[in-house]
Amino acid sequence: MSEQPAPTQVPPTQPATATGAPTVAVVGAGQLARMLQPAAIALGVRLRVLAERPDDAAAQVVVDAPAGRPDDPAALAALARGAAVVTLDHEQVPTEHLRALAASGVAVRPGPDALEHAQDKLVMRRRLAQLGVPVPRWAPVGTADDLQRFGDEVGWPVVLKTARGGYDGKGVRVVADVAEAADWLARAAAPATAAAPAALLAEERVPFARELAVLVARSPSGQAAAWPVVETVQVDGICTEVVAPAPGLDEEVALAATATALRLADQLGVTGVMAVECFEVPAAAGSSVLVNELAMRPHNSGHWTIDGSVTSQFEQHLRAVLDLPLGDVAPRARWSVMANVLGPQREEHADVFRAYLHVMAHDPGVKVHLYGKAWRPGRKIGHVTVSGADLDDVRARARHAGDFLTGLIDG
Ligand SMILES: Nc1ncnc2c1ncn2[C@@H]1O[C@H](COP(=O)(O)OP(=O)(O)OP(=O)(O)O)[C@@H](O)[C@H]1O
Ligand SMILES: [Mg+2]
Repeated sequence: MSEQPAPTQVPPTQPATATGAPTVAVVGAGQLARMLQPAAIALGVRLRVLAERPDDAAAQVVVDAPAGRPDDPAALAALARGAAVVTLDHEQVPTEHLRALAASGVAVRPGPDALEHAQDKLVMRRRLAQLGVPVPRWAPVGTADDLQRFGDEVGWPVVLKTARGGYDGKGVRVVADVAEAADWLARAAAPATAAAPAALLAEERVPFARELAVLVARSPSGQAAAWPVVETVQVDGICTEVVAPAPGLDEEVALAATATALRLADQLGVTGVMAVECFEVPAAAGSSVLVNELAMRPHNSGHWTIDGSVTSQFEQHLRAVLDLPLGDVAPRARWSVMANVLGPQREEHADVFRAYLHVMAHDPGVKVHLYGKAWRPGRKIGHVTVSGADLDDVRARARHAGDFLTGLIDG
Protein backbone atom coordinates (compact mmCIF):
# COMPACT_ATOMS: atom_id res chain seq x y z
CA MET A 1 0.00 0.00 0.00
CA SER A 2 1.56 3.28 -1.08
CA GLU A 3 1.64 6.18 1.32
CA GLN A 4 -0.27 9.34 0.58
CA PRO A 5 2.14 12.21 -0.09
CA ALA A 6 2.16 14.66 2.80
CA PRO A 7 0.36 17.92 2.03
CA THR A 8 2.83 20.52 0.88
CA GLN A 9 3.88 22.67 3.79
CA VAL A 10 4.52 26.30 2.91
CA PRO A 11 7.39 27.45 5.06
CA PRO A 12 6.52 30.78 6.67
CA THR A 13 9.15 32.77 4.81
CA GLN A 14 9.09 30.99 1.47
CA PRO A 15 9.98 33.46 -1.27
CA ALA A 16 6.85 34.51 -3.11
CA THR A 17 8.42 35.28 -6.47
CA ALA A 18 10.38 33.46 -9.13
CA THR A 19 13.44 35.58 -8.38
CA GLY A 20 13.27 34.77 -4.70
CA ALA A 21 12.18 38.26 -3.70
CA PRO A 22 10.05 38.33 -0.58
CA THR A 23 6.61 39.65 0.26
CA VAL A 24 6.34 42.82 2.34
CA ALA A 25 3.08 43.05 4.27
CA VAL A 26 1.72 46.50 5.07
CA VAL A 27 -0.82 47.27 7.78
CA GLY A 28 -3.13 49.79 6.15
CA ALA A 29 -3.84 50.62 2.53
CA GLY A 30 -3.73 54.40 2.33
CA GLN A 31 -1.70 56.56 -0.02
CA LEU A 32 1.62 55.68 1.59
CA ALA A 33 1.11 51.96 0.95
CA ARG A 34 -0.03 52.88 -2.56
CA MET A 35 3.18 54.80 -3.21
CA LEU A 36 5.24 51.82 -2.02
CA GLN A 37 3.88 49.84 -4.96
CA PRO A 38 5.91 51.37 -7.84
CA ALA A 39 9.07 50.89 -5.78
CA ALA A 40 8.08 47.28 -4.99
CA ILE A 41 7.40 46.63 -8.68
CA ALA A 42 10.85 47.91 -9.64
CA LEU A 43 12.54 45.77 -7.00
CA GLY A 44 10.44 42.70 -7.85
CA VAL A 45 9.16 42.66 -4.28
CA ARG A 46 5.55 41.66 -3.64
CA LEU A 47 3.35 43.85 -1.54
CA ARG A 48 0.38 42.74 0.50
CA VAL A 49 -1.77 45.40 2.10
CA LEU A 50 -4.40 45.11 4.83
CA ALA A 51 -7.34 47.11 3.54
CA GLU A 52 -10.21 48.30 5.70
CA ARG A 53 -12.26 49.08 2.59
CA PRO A 54 -12.00 47.64 -0.92
CA ASP A 55 -11.56 51.10 -2.43
CA ASP A 56 -8.69 52.12 -0.14
CA ALA A 57 -5.94 53.93 -2.07
CA ALA A 58 -3.52 50.98 -2.05
CA ALA A 59 -6.18 48.28 -2.41
CA GLN A 60 -6.89 49.73 -5.87
CA VAL A 61 -3.36 48.96 -7.08
CA VAL A 62 -2.10 46.02 -5.01
CA VAL A 63 -3.42 42.62 -6.10
CA ASP A 64 -2.92 41.00 -2.71
CA ALA A 65 -5.15 43.16 -0.50
CA PRO A 66 -6.92 41.14 2.19
CA ALA A 67 -9.72 42.92 4.01
CA GLY A 68 -9.26 43.58 7.69
CA ARG A 69 -8.89 46.08 10.47
CA PRO A 70 -5.55 47.11 11.98
CA ASP A 71 -6.86 46.35 15.46
CA ASP A 72 -7.88 42.78 14.66
CA PRO A 73 -5.16 40.32 15.78
CA ALA A 74 -6.45 37.56 13.48
CA ALA A 75 -6.33 39.88 10.45
CA LEU A 76 -2.78 40.90 11.37
CA ALA A 77 -1.66 37.28 11.76
CA ALA A 78 -3.18 36.38 8.38
CA LEU A 79 -1.50 39.41 6.80
CA ALA A 80 1.88 38.32 8.15
CA ARG A 81 1.62 34.72 6.96
CA GLY A 82 4.38 34.00 4.45
CA ALA A 83 5.64 37.59 4.44
CA ALA A 84 9.26 38.41 5.20
CA VAL A 85 8.34 41.51 7.15
CA VAL A 86 5.34 43.49 8.37
CA THR A 87 5.45 47.26 8.09
CA LEU A 88 2.96 50.11 8.46
CA ASP A 89 1.03 52.58 6.34
CA HIS A 90 -0.12 54.48 9.43
CA GLU A 91 0.69 54.45 13.11
CA GLN A 92 -2.75 53.58 14.50
CA VAL A 93 -1.95 49.93 15.11
CA PRO A 94 -2.22 48.67 18.70
CA THR A 95 1.30 47.91 19.89
CA GLU A 96 0.10 44.90 21.90
CA HIS A 97 -0.93 43.22 18.63
CA LEU A 98 2.41 44.07 17.03
CA ARG A 99 4.19 42.68 20.10
CA ALA A 100 2.21 39.45 19.75
CA LEU A 101 3.22 39.23 16.07
CA ALA A 102 6.85 39.86 16.93
CA ALA A 103 6.69 37.24 19.71
CA SER A 104 5.41 34.71 17.16
CA GLY A 105 8.56 35.24 15.09
CA VAL A 106 7.33 37.85 12.60
CA ALA A 107 9.72 40.68 11.73
CA VAL A 108 7.79 43.88 12.52
CA ARG A 109 9.51 47.04 11.26
CA PRO A 110 9.39 49.55 12.78
CA GLY A 111 9.10 47.53 15.98
CA PRO A 112 6.50 48.30 18.63
CA ASP A 113 9.02 49.80 21.08
CA ALA A 114 10.12 52.39 18.55
CA LEU A 115 6.63 52.95 17.20
CA GLU A 116 5.23 54.05 20.56
CA HIS A 117 7.17 57.28 20.18
CA ALA A 118 5.23 58.09 17.04
CA GLN A 119 1.88 57.01 18.48
CA ASP A 120 1.93 58.85 21.76
CA LYS A 121 3.16 62.42 22.08
CA LEU A 122 3.59 62.06 25.87
CA VAL A 123 5.82 59.00 25.48
CA MET A 124 7.76 60.85 22.78
CA ARG A 125 8.20 64.08 24.80
CA ARG A 126 9.38 62.14 27.87
CA ARG A 127 11.90 60.14 25.88
CA LEU A 128 13.22 63.13 23.97
CA ALA A 129 13.68 65.02 27.22
CA GLN A 130 15.59 62.01 28.60
CA LEU A 131 17.81 61.94 25.53
CA GLY A 132 18.52 65.66 25.82
CA VAL A 133 16.90 66.55 22.49
CA PRO A 134 15.74 70.19 22.37
CA VAL A 135 11.92 70.34 22.41
CA PRO A 136 9.31 73.04 23.15
CA ARG A 137 8.50 73.47 26.85
CA TRP A 138 5.70 71.04 27.62
CA ALA A 139 3.74 69.41 30.43
CA PRO A 140 1.21 66.61 30.79
CA VAL A 141 -2.26 68.03 31.48
CA GLY A 142 -4.88 66.12 33.46
CA THR A 143 -6.88 68.93 35.01
CA ALA A 144 -7.77 72.61 34.56
CA ASP A 145 -5.28 73.42 37.34
CA ASP A 146 -2.46 71.72 35.43
CA LEU A 147 -3.25 73.78 32.34
CA GLN A 148 -3.60 77.03 34.30
CA ARG A 149 -0.24 76.49 35.98
CA PHE A 150 1.51 75.65 32.70
CA GLY A 151 -0.02 78.61 30.82
CA ASP A 152 0.89 81.02 33.62
CA GLU A 153 4.44 79.71 33.53
CA VAL A 154 5.13 79.78 29.76
CA GLY A 155 2.62 82.44 28.70
CA TRP A 156 -0.77 82.25 26.97
CA PRO A 157 -1.91 81.14 24.49
CA VAL A 158 -0.62 77.58 24.70
CA VAL A 159 -0.87 74.65 22.31
CA LEU A 160 -2.98 71.80 23.65
CA LYS A 161 -2.60 68.35 22.11
CA THR A 162 -4.16 64.94 22.48
CA ALA A 163 -1.37 62.49 23.23
CA ARG A 164 -2.71 59.90 20.81
CA GLY A 165 -4.76 59.67 17.65
CA GLY A 166 -4.11 63.11 16.11
CA TYR A 167 -3.21 63.64 12.46
CA ASP A 168 -3.18 66.60 10.10
CA GLY A 169 -3.52 68.91 13.10
CA LYS A 170 -6.75 67.25 14.27
CA GLY A 171 -5.48 66.64 17.79
CA VAL A 172 -3.94 70.11 18.12
CA ARG A 173 -5.54 73.33 19.38
CA VAL A 174 -4.32 76.75 20.40
CA VAL A 175 -6.13 77.84 23.56
CA ALA A 176 -6.13 81.35 25.01
CA ASP A 177 -7.21 80.23 28.48
CA VAL A 178 -8.51 77.28 30.48
CA ALA A 179 -12.14 78.02 29.56
CA GLU A 180 -11.38 77.47 25.88
CA ALA A 181 -10.12 73.99 26.68
CA ALA A 182 -13.17 73.00 28.76
CA ASP A 183 -14.42 70.28 26.38
CA TRP A 184 -11.07 68.53 26.04
CA LEU A 185 -10.44 68.83 29.79
CA ALA A 186 -13.81 67.21 30.48
CA ARG A 187 -12.87 64.34 28.17
CA ALA A 188 -9.48 64.03 29.82
CA ALA A 189 -11.21 63.65 33.20
CA ALA A 190 -13.32 60.75 31.91
CA PRO A 191 -11.79 57.27 31.76
CA ALA A 192 -9.93 56.77 28.48
CA THR A 193 -11.23 54.26 25.98
CA ALA A 194 -9.51 52.96 22.88
CA ALA A 195 -11.94 54.96 20.73
CA ALA A 196 -11.55 58.17 22.73
CA PRO A 197 -8.03 58.41 24.06
CA ALA A 198 -8.10 61.35 26.38
CA ALA A 199 -4.61 62.11 27.71
CA LEU A 200 -3.49 65.66 26.95
CA LEU A 201 -0.29 67.62 26.93
CA ALA A 202 0.30 71.35 26.67
CA GLU A 203 3.18 73.02 24.88
CA GLU A 204 4.42 76.56 24.71
CA ARG A 205 3.36 78.16 21.44
CA VAL A 206 6.72 78.23 19.69
CA PRO A 207 7.36 81.48 17.78
CA PHE A 208 9.03 79.55 14.98
CA ALA A 209 10.50 81.18 11.90
CA ARG A 210 9.46 78.14 9.86
CA GLU A 211 8.95 74.40 10.07
CA LEU A 212 11.54 71.89 8.92
CA ALA A 213 11.59 68.13 8.55
CA VAL A 214 14.45 65.66 8.55
CA LEU A 215 13.78 62.39 6.79
CA VAL A 216 16.02 59.46 7.61
CA ALA A 217 16.02 55.74 7.01
CA ARG A 218 17.61 53.07 9.16
CA SER A 219 17.94 49.35 8.58
CA PRO A 220 18.03 46.61 11.22
CA SER A 221 21.79 46.25 10.57
CA GLY A 222 22.16 49.86 11.63
CA GLN A 223 22.90 51.45 8.26
CA ALA A 224 21.30 54.88 8.08
CA ALA A 225 20.84 57.63 5.53
CA ALA A 226 19.37 61.14 5.65
CA TRP A 227 17.92 63.24 2.84
CA PRO A 228 18.60 66.98 2.86
CA VAL A 229 16.59 68.90 5.50
CA VAL A 230 13.40 70.31 3.95
CA GLU A 231 11.09 73.22 4.75
CA THR A 232 7.45 72.30 5.30
CA VAL A 233 4.54 74.71 5.17
CA GLN A 234 1.43 73.93 7.23
CA VAL A 235 -1.89 75.75 6.84
CA ASP A 236 -4.48 75.04 9.53
CA GLY A 237 -2.36 72.10 10.73
CA ILE A 238 -2.22 70.45 7.29
CA CYS A 239 0.91 70.29 5.14
CA THR A 240 0.49 72.24 1.90
CA GLU A 241 4.03 72.62 0.55
CA VAL A 242 7.52 71.16 0.96
CA VAL A 243 10.71 72.78 -0.36
CA ALA A 244 13.81 70.61 -0.70
CA PRO A 245 16.31 71.53 0.49
CA ALA A 246 15.16 74.16 3.02
CA PRO A 247 16.16 77.46 1.38
CA GLY A 248 18.87 79.43 3.13
CA LEU A 249 19.21 76.99 6.00
CA ASP A 250 22.47 77.50 7.84
CA GLU A 251 24.73 74.54 7.16
CA GLU A 252 25.54 74.00 10.83
CA VAL A 253 21.88 74.05 11.79
CA ALA A 254 21.15 71.54 9.03
CA LEU A 255 23.99 69.30 10.20
CA ALA A 256 22.84 69.49 13.81
CA ALA A 257 19.22 68.68 12.90
CA THR A 258 20.35 65.76 10.74
CA ALA A 259 22.64 64.46 13.46
CA THR A 260 19.75 64.64 15.95
CA ALA A 261 17.45 62.71 13.62
CA LEU A 262 20.06 60.01 12.98
CA ARG A 263 20.84 59.75 16.68
CA LEU A 264 17.11 59.38 17.46
CA ALA A 265 16.69 56.69 14.79
CA ASP A 266 19.54 54.81 16.39
CA GLN A 267 18.57 55.33 20.03
CA LEU A 268 14.91 54.49 19.47
CA GLY A 269 15.86 51.48 17.34
CA VAL A 270 13.87 52.69 14.33
CA THR A 271 13.75 50.47 11.25
CA GLY A 272 12.42 51.95 8.03
CA VAL A 273 11.84 55.59 7.24
CA MET A 274 11.34 58.14 10.01
CA ALA A 275 10.42 61.81 9.67
CA VAL A 276 11.44 64.23 12.41
CA GLU A 277 9.24 67.34 12.29
CA CYS A 278 11.00 70.42 13.67
CA PHE A 279 10.58 74.12 14.39
CA GLU A 280 13.35 76.50 13.39
CA VAL A 281 13.50 79.18 16.03
CA PRO A 282 15.53 82.41 16.08
CA ALA A 283 18.45 82.17 18.51
CA ALA A 284 21.12 84.55 19.75
CA ALA A 285 23.51 83.35 17.06
CA GLY A 286 21.37 82.55 14.00
CA SER A 287 18.80 79.88 14.69
CA SER A 288 18.27 76.54 16.34
CA VAL A 289 15.92 73.63 15.95
CA LEU A 290 13.33 72.14 18.32
CA VAL A 291 11.81 68.74 17.64
CA ASN A 292 8.03 68.77 17.27
CA GLU A 293 7.15 65.17 16.54
CA LEU A 294 8.17 61.89 14.95
CA ALA A 295 6.55 59.79 12.23
CA MET A 296 7.79 56.24 11.66
CA ARG A 297 6.86 55.58 8.06
CA PRO A 298 7.24 57.37 4.76
CA HIS A 299 5.96 60.89 5.30
CA ASN A 300 4.40 63.79 3.41
CA SER A 301 7.63 65.77 3.84
CA GLY A 302 9.35 63.11 1.71
CA HIS A 303 6.98 62.84 -1.27
CA TRP A 304 9.34 65.08 -3.24
CA THR A 305 11.89 62.23 -3.20
CA ILE A 306 9.83 60.20 -5.73
CA ASP A 307 10.75 62.63 -8.49
CA GLY A 308 13.52 64.64 -6.85
CA SER A 309 15.94 62.13 -5.32
CA VAL A 310 17.99 59.24 -6.65
CA THR A 311 16.24 57.00 -4.11
CA SER A 312 12.65 57.73 -3.10
CA GLN A 313 11.53 57.37 0.49
CA PHE A 314 9.30 54.51 -0.62
CA GLU A 315 12.10 52.51 -2.21
CA GLN A 316 14.27 53.30 0.80
CA HIS A 317 11.60 52.13 3.21
CA LEU A 318 11.41 48.78 1.39
CA ARG A 319 15.20 48.47 1.37
CA ALA A 320 15.37 49.32 5.06
CA VAL A 321 12.66 46.97 6.30
CA LEU A 322 14.15 44.15 4.17
CA ASP A 323 17.59 44.95 5.60
CA LEU A 324 19.02 45.61 2.16
CA PRO A 325 21.80 48.17 1.61
CA LEU A 326 20.26 51.65 1.46
CA GLY A 327 20.10 53.73 -1.72
CA ASP A 328 21.70 57.04 -2.65
CA VAL A 329 19.74 59.95 -1.18
CA ALA A 330 21.27 62.64 -3.40
CA PRO A 331 18.81 65.13 -4.95
CA ARG A 332 18.35 64.94 -8.73
CA ALA A 333 17.98 68.70 -9.05
CA ARG A 334 19.05 71.80 -7.14
CA TRP A 335 15.48 72.37 -5.95
CA SER A 336 12.32 70.33 -5.68
CA VAL A 337 9.00 71.72 -4.52
CA MET A 338 6.06 69.51 -3.64
CA ALA A 339 2.57 70.96 -3.35
CA ASN A 340 -0.24 68.90 -1.87
CA VAL A 341 -3.49 68.58 -3.76
CA LEU A 342 -6.32 68.89 -1.26
CA GLY A 343 -9.92 67.94 -1.98
CA PRO A 344 -11.51 71.01 -3.65
CA GLN A 345 -13.88 73.05 -1.51
CA ARG A 346 -16.60 73.03 -4.18
CA GLU A 347 -18.03 69.99 -5.88
CA GLU A 348 -17.78 71.55 -9.33
CA HIS A 349 -14.00 71.17 -8.98
CA ALA A 350 -14.18 67.55 -7.82
CA ASP A 351 -13.30 66.16 -11.26
CA VAL A 352 -9.59 66.52 -10.70
CA PHE A 353 -8.71 64.35 -13.68
CA ARG A 354 -10.30 66.94 -15.99
CA ALA A 355 -7.99 69.51 -14.49
CA TYR A 356 -5.03 67.46 -15.78
CA LEU A 357 -5.75 68.92 -19.22
CA HIS A 358 -4.82 72.41 -18.14
CA VAL A 359 -2.02 71.48 -15.75
CA MET A 360 -0.23 69.21 -18.20
CA ALA A 361 -0.66 71.54 -21.17
CA HIS A 362 0.47 74.51 -19.12
CA ASP A 363 3.64 72.86 -17.79
CA PRO A 364 4.96 69.53 -19.10
CA GLY A 365 7.55 69.46 -16.30
CA VAL A 366 5.00 69.02 -13.50
CA LYS A 367 4.84 65.51 -12.03
CA VAL A 368 1.29 64.74 -10.87
CA HIS A 369 0.43 62.08 -8.29
CA LEU A 370 -3.17 61.30 -7.37
CA TYR A 371 -4.04 58.71 -4.76
CA GLY A 372 -7.41 57.44 -6.04
CA LYS A 373 -9.15 58.82 -2.97
CA ALA A 374 -12.74 59.99 -2.90
CA TRP A 375 -13.24 63.74 -2.94
CA ARG A 376 -13.82 65.49 0.37
CA PRO A 377 -13.04 69.18 0.93
CA GLY A 378 -9.56 69.66 2.45
CA ARG A 379 -8.60 65.96 2.31
CA LYS A 380 -5.13 65.12 0.96
CA ILE A 381 -5.89 63.46 -2.39
CA GLY A 382 -2.59 63.88 -4.22
CA HIS A 383 0.48 65.99 -4.77
CA VAL A 384 2.58 67.54 -7.51
CA THR A 385 6.34 67.94 -7.69
CA VAL A 386 8.44 70.30 -9.79
CA SER A 387 12.25 70.18 -9.83
CA GLY A 388 14.74 72.59 -11.34
CA ALA A 389 17.56 75.07 -10.94
CA ASP A 390 15.65 78.23 -10.00
CA LEU A 391 13.74 78.15 -6.73
CA ASP A 392 11.28 80.95 -7.52
CA ASP A 393 10.38 79.34 -10.83
CA VAL A 394 10.07 75.85 -9.37
CA ARG A 395 7.95 77.04 -6.46
CA ALA A 396 5.64 79.13 -8.66
CA ARG A 397 5.06 76.21 -11.02
CA ALA A 398 4.36 73.74 -8.20
CA ARG A 399 1.94 76.18 -6.56
CA HIS A 400 0.15 76.85 -9.82
CA ALA A 401 -0.36 73.15 -10.54
CA GLY A 402 -1.33 72.35 -6.94
CA ASP A 403 -3.75 75.27 -6.71
CA PHE A 404 -5.31 74.46 -10.06
CA LEU A 405 -5.89 70.81 -9.15
CA THR A 406 -7.22 71.91 -5.75
CA GLY A 407 -9.69 74.24 -7.51
CA LEU A 408 -8.28 77.39 -5.91
CA ILE A 409 -7.51 79.00 -9.28
CA ASP A 410 -8.95 78.33 -12.69
CA GLY A 411 -6.42 79.69 -15.12
N1 LIG B 1 4.17 73.91 20.25
C1 LIG B 1 3.77 74.42 19.09
N2 LIG B 1 3.94 75.73 18.81
C2 LIG B 1 3.52 76.27 17.64
N3 LIG B 1 2.89 75.57 16.67
C3 LIG B 1 2.69 74.26 16.87
C4 LIG B 1 3.11 73.62 18.09
N4 LIG B 1 2.79 72.31 17.99
C5 LIG B 1 2.20 72.14 16.80
N5 LIG B 1 2.12 73.30 16.12
C6 LIG B 1 1.54 73.49 14.75
O1 LIG B 1 0.54 72.51 14.53
C7 LIG B 1 0.95 71.60 13.48
C8 LIG B 1 0.47 70.20 13.81
O2 LIG B 1 1.07 69.78 15.03
P1 LIG B 1 1.58 68.28 15.27
O3 LIG B 1 2.53 67.94 14.19
O4 LIG B 1 2.06 68.14 16.65
O5 LIG B 1 0.21 67.51 15.14
P2 LIG B 1 -0.32 66.29 14.29
O6 LIG B 1 -1.80 66.43 14.18
O7 LIG B 1 0.23 65.07 14.88
O8 LIG B 1 0.28 66.57 12.90
P3 LIG B 1 0.58 65.65 11.69
O9 LIG B 1 -0.23 66.22 10.59
O10 LIG B 1 2.04 65.87 11.47
O11 LIG B 1 0.22 64.26 12.05
C9 LIG B 1 2.46 71.75 13.42
O12 LIG B 1 2.95 71.38 12.15
C10 LIG B 1 2.60 73.26 13.70
O13 LIG B 1 2.28 74.02 12.56
MG1 LIG C 1 2.97 66.99 12.67
